[in-house]
Amino acid sequence: MADAPVVVAVDGPAASGKGTIARRLAEHLGFAHLDTGLLYRAVARRAMDRGGDPADGEAALRAARTLEAGDLAGEGLREETVTSAASVVAADPGVRAALLDFQRGFAAAPPGGAAGAVLDGRDIGTVVCPDAQVKLFLDASPEVRARRRVRELRQRGANAIYAAVLRDMEARDARDRDRAVAPLAPAEDAFVIDTSAMNADEAFREALAHFDARTTSQK
Ligand code: DC
Repeated sequence: MADAPVVVAVDGPAASGKGTIARRLAEHLGFAHLDTGLLYRAVARRAMDRGGDPADGEAALRAARTLEAGDLAGEGLREETVTSAASVVAADPGVRAALLDFQRGFAAAPPGGAAGAVLDGRDIGTVVCPDAQVKLFLDASPEVRARRRVRELRQRGANAIYAAVLRDMEARDARDRDRAVAPLAPAEDAFVIDTSAMNADEAFREALAHFDARTTSQK
């Protein structure tokens, strides 16, 4: 029988660098990659498109239960209105439960028959895949993360004001960290990388060194 897929959990707050690191690890290792934030964004988008209020639990739950893989490639999932609504629907325990099977299925049987899966999000190492062989938690100060987000928004042609981005990010962090179900927090056995003073290459090297150390010691 083929070996069980290697699962890599990459958690952290917005603009901590977790998405970039997860993508690069997956590319480097030939693993499948799932950005689980897209699931919450797609649920929020669906609830809004149907004229529902994302804060209305019924609308969000219906959207989560009927979510299809194609919705993850939907237009506008990175828009600010969707970003904010996603953190509201993500606080709903019913929505989180409805998305668990999809995420665990991806980890257990990565698409394309890949030998492993990298999932990035907020609760991968704590709730979705608590048995992941490799757990990373990326972090950075709110100021550094807000500066990164401003740069990213301006590159996309948006008009971003640092103070407003920082304020929105802190509000979203608080919603993600303080919710009752699956709050954003490092797993006890996660390797924490503070990327505040690192560039993407340095963070990637740290992440890969940890992956190598964990997977070599388990062989
Ligand atoms: O990573 P992101 O910014 O695309 O995530 C969008 C929202 O979804 C964010 O507010 C946190 C939430 N989220 C979550 O609660 N759990 C995950 N595993 C991934 C994202």
